[in-house]
Amino acid sequence: MDNKVAVVGTGYVGLTTGACFAHLGHQVTCADIDVSKVERLRRGEIPIYEPGLEALVAEGIASGRLIFTDDPVAAASEAGFVYLCVPTPQGDDGSADLSYLEAAARQIGPHLQAETIVVNKSTVPVGSANFVAQVIGRGDIQVVSNPEFLREGTAVHDFLNPDRVVIGADDQSAAIRIAGLYLGLPAPLMVTDPASAETIKYASNAFLAMKLSFVNAIANLCEVVGADVSDVVLGMGYDKRIGHDFLRPGPGWGGSCFPKDSRALRYMASEAGYEFGILDAVLEANEEQFGRVADKVVAMVGGDIAGVKVAAWGLAFKANTDDRRDSPSINVLRRLVAMGAEVTAFDPTVSGPIPELVELNIADDPITACQGADVLVVLTEWDDFKWVELDEVKAVMSTPRIVDGRNLLDRSLLLRRGFEYDGIGRH
Ligand code: UDX
Repeated sequence: MDNKVAVVGTGYVGLTTGACFAHLGHQVTCADIDVSKVERLRRGEIPIYEPGLEALVAEGIASGRLIFTDDPVAAASEAGFVYLCVPTPQGDDGSADLSYLEAAARQIGPHLQAETIVVNKSTVPVGSANFVAQVIGRGDIQVVSNPEFLREGTAVHDFLNPDRVVIGADDQSAAIRIAGLYLGLPAPLMVTDPASAETIKYASNAFLAMKLSFVNAIANLCEVVGADVSDVVLGMGYDKRIGHDFLRPGPGWGGSCFPKDSRALRYMASEAGYEFGILDAVLEANEEQFGRVADKVVAMVGGDIAGVKVAAWGLAFKANTDDRRDSPSINVLRRLVAMGAEVTAFDPTVSGPIPELVELNIADDPITACQGADVLVVLTEWDDFKWVELDEVKAVMSTPRIVDGRNLLDRSLLLRRGFEYDGIGRH
């Protein structure tokens, strides 16, 4: 029993966790209540776009170390470790909805073998390990926190090459058993109490969001003082205390984690009696950034966007994912559509109308998106966009104008080819 792992929930965290643990040699059962999803997973079909995951799932299935079931209770009752990877959606006030977590814990609790360790892997509010322990209500079951730090698009790499493994456990022997699951990974492993582990996850994401809001603000400053943000962040990044990572300015930050976790942390702090003022500014600056990029597009066409044809490259919240949750791209385009722009967008992962912004026309390739457009706005940093033939873009556009919300394209080349160009923090 002891080295068997059950993973409840096969979203991108659960599936990556299950496939990577199987890769590390553990016997893993991934459970999901979605029967058709389980059937597809058994055939090795991955419901999300995540580089490397399909190969790892195929490897796990072939080795017999990774199996899928629609019965979480059966999976949990045979396991020494039960990883809870269920969604924790956000309420309007920023609070996390723990109903899936509670339901899963309530369902499996009575069926667990003595000494099984239940692990919170989903991002959950501080105090959730205690909450799950109370729901399970058994003295022979430890609940620990083992937060994930996986980026979409590089989740497999991040799992297998973590910067650190954090284990939050009140019981030393439970922590040692969890540590055993990660043996062989070249990463510092830290053991702390559950509340600190849960806080580490929120604090890390909110700090990175703050870094991005700051760098976007520096980019905005560069525009008004005549500096170039690319050189500014390069110069800053050489300082080891700052580092080069996460200094790319853009159209604002998004995705399934940063917006949700920053709001959740602000809510949690406020509930606990601490007003987290910095976070208010971080979130506010991000909203402003969406607006600034939309304003750049409006300014480039002369101040009135109503009825103007806009081409947009990129809808995903960043490159190498098909995820559009809280996508900066959608946030910017929603503003342009509201002002009356006619937007045609292309994203390599999107083939038809998208429910969150049905007014968008969707093109099948980047050139078609530019057909007759008065301005092109680049919103996701897909590498493919760098290789699009610029003369073709110019030939199909009504006016060759580009707002590069990711500083992805070669500005001097575009200017030489006769485009009007505006980027972020680059004057
Ligand atoms: C994030 C965290 O990085 C990860 O550790 C956590 O567990 C989940 O949340 P993810 O949401 O996949 O991962 O995306 P990430 O690569 O962190 O990017 C978040 C947002 O910041 C994206 O919108 C991205 O485009 C933006 N970003 C990132 C920038 O604008 N500039 C940068 O330099 C880096």
